[in-house]
Amino acid sequence: MAEIAAERVAAMMRRERERFAGARPRSRALSEQAKAHLLAGAPLTWMREWQSPFTVFAAEACGAEVVDVDGHVYADFCLGDTGAMFGHSPPAFAERMRATLDGGVTHMLPTEDAVWLGAELARRFGLARWSLALTATDANRFACRFARQIAGRPKILVFDGCYHGTLGETLVDLDGNRMVRRAGSVGIVEDPDTTTRVVDFNDLDQLDRALTQGDVACVLAEPALTNCSMVQPDTGFHDGLREITRRHDVILIIDETHTISSGPAGYTGAQGLQPDMLTLGKPIAGGIPAAIYGFSEELAARAEGMMEASGDFSTGIGGTLSANALSLRAMRVMFESVITEAAYAHMFAMAQGLERGIADAIENLGVPWHVTRIGARVEYGFGPRPWRNAREVRAGRRRDLERLMHLYCLNRGVMVTPFHNMLLTSPATTPDQVAAHNAAFAAAVAELVGE
Ligand SMILES: Cc1ncc(COP(=O)(O)O)c(C=O)c1O
Repeated sequence: MAEIAAERVAAMMRRERERFAGARPRSRALSEQAKAHLLAGAPLTWMREWQSPFTVFAAEACGAEVVDVDGHVYADFCLGDTGAMFGHSPPAFAERMRATLDGGVTHMLPTEDAVWLGAELARRFGLARWSLALTATDANRFACRFARQIAGRPKILVFDGCYHGTLGETLVDLDGNRMVRRAGSVGIVEDPDTTTRVVDFNDLDQLDRALTQGDVACVLAEPALTNCSMVQPDTGFHDGLREITRRHDVILIIDETHTISSGPAGYTGAQGLQPDMLTLGKPIAGGIPAAIYGFSEELAARAEGMMEASGDFSTGIGGTLSANALSLRAMRVMFESVITEAAYAHMFAMAQGLERGIADAIENLGVPWHVTRIGARVEYGFGPRPWRNAREVRAGRRRDLERLMHLYCLNRGVMVTPFHNMLLTSPATTPDQVAAHNAAFAAAVAELVGE
């Protein structure tokens, strides 16, 4: 198996940067203008993470296609980093949302859609009661705060390599056996030793030991890590996680924001998990800000009991625009008409096509890489076997290769999520788009190994 030389990657990168810049005069001009009044030259600093010499500016998007301001059309496998996982403005959604705008956007009153939504979420995800937020970050923040209050304990436990949004207490990593603040995170003042415990994913003994101290209110976990490359759970990991959290009387919160790629009820539904709470945001309102968090019957009764007893329902949790009429309608339309079994059947078939194409190129060209998939979410990694935890990801990561593969694909009309090698499929993704990705991927690898 061939290891890929850094010099070859660097030479290809120089050529791809020139090709990119030469073909996008309008994006280049807008990027220059943006520096004047947008922090770091972008409306969201993360948009600087694209591996191109400057950011592509989008003109419009439809289905699984993005068109940029220079007229380039991209097969979109980034899909707004999951925010558009069910396609850009699916027709059933766009039509009904246009009419909704005429009825007022936010009232500090529930609409009938809220009642429909609560019942649908209980049916779909199997948890009794639900509350709303605007982002997955906030859903996680609110779920953890309720959990701490209910459990009467100060800490949360997360897995090394996790990402659950911008909650300061989750932005930690393991350095050896020491918990450290995640590099690059800005302005967090709480000492993580007072808020957080962190253990390796797939290590149930470590988890058990960390919970023995009795100071952890909840475990906040993705069912598989999807934000530091992709790390699948070992067989039996989820049974162990559930058994250990129950034994220590610790609340288990499953964050399905990315693993909703597993099916209409997420990984929880697909694998029969039994969390005490569940959080989910990003694609469930077609890109309109909305998120949900659910409670088991028992936890809901305890949370409601606390509020009834104090007579105070403001809780310091919520947000003025949460559960506004627009996001309620958007979630209703999405769950009614778009996030369906039929949609997933197509998404899975397209993702299998990506997985096959990537695996074939890896095998045919003899590179020591792997590919893995959770439903409609595919990830390839520059190591011979799927990773088991974030330590392995860090040790095996090749940023230079990552950057090159992204830019190489972008230059050939294929968009991959900028943060790592993640590809998503939508109900609108076509076999031609899958073929375009696989051709670009195979061509890049062939050139890397000198074929
Ligand atoms: C698993 C998971 N949870 C929560 C979030 C936070 O989502 P948002 O940025 O929409 O708040 C993310 C974002 O990537 C995520 O991947």
